[in-house]
Amino acid sequence: MNKKILNLIKKKNKSKIVSLTAYSKNIATILDDICDLVLVGDSLGSVLYNYKSTRDVSLNTMIEHSKSVRKGVKKSLMVVDMPYNTYRNPREALKNAKKIIFKTKCDAVKLEGGKKICKIVKTLVKNNIPVMGHLGVLPQFDKNFKSKGKKIVERNKILNDAELLEASGVFSIVLECVESSLAKIVTKKINIPTIGIGASKYCDGQILVLDDLIGLNPINVRFVKKYSNIRKEIFRAVLNYSKEVRNKKFPLKKHSY
Ligand code: KIV
Repeated sequence: MNKKILNLIKKKNKSKIVSLTAYSKNIATILDDICDLVLVGDSLGSVLYNYKSTRDVSLNTMIEHSKSVRKGVKKSLMVVDMPYNTYRNPREALKNAKKIIFKTKCDAVKLEGGKKICKIVKTLVKNNIPVMGHLGVLPQFDKNFKSKGKKIVERNKILNDAELLEASGVFSIVLECVESSLAKIVTKKINIPTIGIGASKYCDGQILVLDDLIGLNPINVRFVKKYSNIRKEIFRAVLNYSKEVRNKKFPLKKHSY
């Protein structure tokens, strides 16, 4: 198994796993110095392209952004989301996962779903393609993004799906908007790390969309803590630039040839 993946698994019950999304090189370079895992998430569909859902993200879009991210990620584990309708059966999944790995040189792919995708996961793993799972809210498939795990049927299904995914060979599972006590149980029951987004402190690690945490993407959801307001910073810089251009203070001689 890939050494970076083994190291990530070893962190379970020892130290928390830090992960974030990146969609391009410059950001990836910053994250690479700090994060254990960098995800090229298909959230880029809504965050960058203003699509209504991640279902509109194409395989090529994921590949192009991932190629950019790969240029910045040297140390962290780099995972790429397989977009909607690219893993409907084992054959399709294998063809597309191979394409992603070959073109982007990422370390692993991430797929949404539980029992339904276990056969697909097994096929990829058998072909030496490391797979990360994703349970709870599934943006590619769910109609609404309400938290999961309040109803007993839902709780049993998520726990069962997590166990089945582990048995199928995933090396880690993202738990998205899963009720805290369920995230705690899932994390205890499986031997691979859980990475939470809106799924409590009980997960083995956390992931957020970088654009959300730096305040670039103007959304307000409960599970996002804003660590900076980068929009303000950018606004200030652009405003200063515009003033200097209009007042003929930029460019100076030192900026000219
Ligand atoms: O697409 C994405 O960015 C994700 C994370 C939010 C887990 O799947």
